[in-house]
Amino acid sequence: MTRALDGFIEDDFTGVAVGTLVAGRWRVQRPLTEGGMATVYVAEDTETPGQLCALKIMAPRLLRDEKSRQRFEQEATIGTTLKHPHIVNVLGAGVDEKLESPWIAMELLQGGTIAAVLKERGPLPLEEVRQLFLDFGAAMAAAHTRGVVHRDLKPENVFLEARPSSGLPYTLKVLDFGIAKVRKDVTMKNSQLIGSPLWMAPEQLSAGTNIAPFTDVWPFGLLAFFGLTGKNYWLTANAPAMNLPKLLAEIMAADLITPTARAEQLGVPVSWPATFDAWFLRCVARDPAARFQSVGDAAAELDLALSGKASTPAPTPAAPEPLVEEKPVAIAAPIELTPEASKPPVTSPSRAPYALVAGALVLLALALGAWLRFGS
Ligand SMILES: Nc1ncnc2c1ncn2[C@@H]1O[C@H](COP(=O)(O)OP(=O)(O)O)[C@@H](O)[C@H]1O
Ligand SMILES: [Mg+2]
Repeated sequence: MTRALDGFIEDDFTGVAVGTLVAGRWRVQRPLTEGGMATVYVAEDTETPGQLCALKIMAPRLLRDEKSRQRFEQEATIGTTLKHPHIVNVLGAGVDEKLESPWIAMELLQGGTIAAVLKERGPLPLEEVRQLFLDFGAAMAAAHTRGVVHRDLKPENVFLEARPSSGLPYTLKVLDFGIAKVRKDVTMKNSQLIGSPLWMAPEQLSAGTNIAPFTDVWPFGLLAFFGLTGKNYWLTANAPAMNLPKLLAEIMAADLITPTARAEQLGVPVSWPATFDAWFLRCVARDPAARFQSVGDAAAELDLALSGKASTPAPTPAAPEPLVEEKPVAIAAPIELTPEASKPPVTSPSRAPYALVAGALVLLALALGAWLRFGS
C-alpha cells in the first residue's frame, strides 16, 4: 500500500490509514465495510478513551463530485436530527480539513444486518418478525413525521443489533439515510434514479413521479416477506442467474401473486396466516394510492395481520402501469447492483409487455453505465 493524499491510502484499499485522527477526535482502528459511496471504519473516540464508534468516511474518488458530497452532507444532517431508539444514533458529523472529506460518527453496533442474520439463521419466526417490524415501523414513522423518506430500505440497511429489546434477542436499527429525501423536494427529476432496484418502488423508476412515505411502504412489505422466508419476493432475484431487464419487468408488470403462492413456488415453508397475504399485496400495490400511505400504518396492520386479525382487504391486482413508457431518467449516481444482477439471464420468459421490456433495457444500459462508472 502507498500513501496518496494525507491520510488516504491508494492501491489495494482506497481508504483512510489506520491510526489517522479524523477531525481531531476519531482515531481510525480498522475498516468495517466498504460501500460504493463510503467506507465505514471502527474508530476510537479519543475524547472518551476506549470508547469505539463507527466512522463513515466518503470514498476519496467521490470527493470532487458535488452531488455525492451533498448527499453525504444531507445524510449527516438527517442523522444528527433524527433521534429514535430504532434509528442508528449519529454522534457527530463534519468535514475533516486534511482529508477534505465529510465524515459521520455513529454508535458502533454489534450484530449484523438482517441480510447477514438471515443468511446465518434462516427465516425468522413469525413472532419475531411481528415485533421487529413494529419497531421498524416506529422508526420509519418518526422519519416520515419529520418529512424524511428513506428511499433505500433494503436488508443491508436494516441492522439487528445484538442487544435484547422488546422481548427479542436483538434491537432493530435503521441505517443509511444516504439517499433519503426531505419532503419539500419529493418529485423525481432527471438524474435521480438511485437505490437498489430489488427493493425500489415503481415510482422510483420513473421521472416526474411523486416520492412520499408510501415509497418506503413498498420495500417494507418486501422486507417482511424476506424476514419470514429468507427469500426475495421477486422470482428473478431467486434465479441462479438474474438479469436487470427481467427484474424491472417483473417489478413493473408481472402478476403480483400472494406471498403464500410465492413461497410455494420457491419451496419455502409458509409460517403466516392468510391475512398476511392481503397485507403484503397492499404494500406492493403499484399504484401508490392503493398502498398503505405510511410505514407506520403498514406496521400497525402487519401486527394484526400476523396475528390473523387483519381487516385489510386485498387490493384488486393492479393493472400493469406504463411506468417506463415515460422518458426513462438518466442516472447520475450508482444503482446498487448485486453481483448476480450482472450475470446472464436464465429465467423463463417474462409476461411483461414489450414496451416495458424495452424500457427496462434502456434502464439496464443506464444502470450498467453508472455501475461501471462507480464500480459499486
Ligand atoms: N453504526 C454502525 N455500526 C456497525 N456497522 C455499521 C454501522 N453503520 C453501518 N454499518 C455497516 O456498514 C454497512 C454500510 O453502511 P451504510 O451506512 O449503509 O453505508 P453505504 O452508504 O455504503 O451503504 C452497513 O450495511 C453495515 O453492515
Ligand atoms: Mg447502506
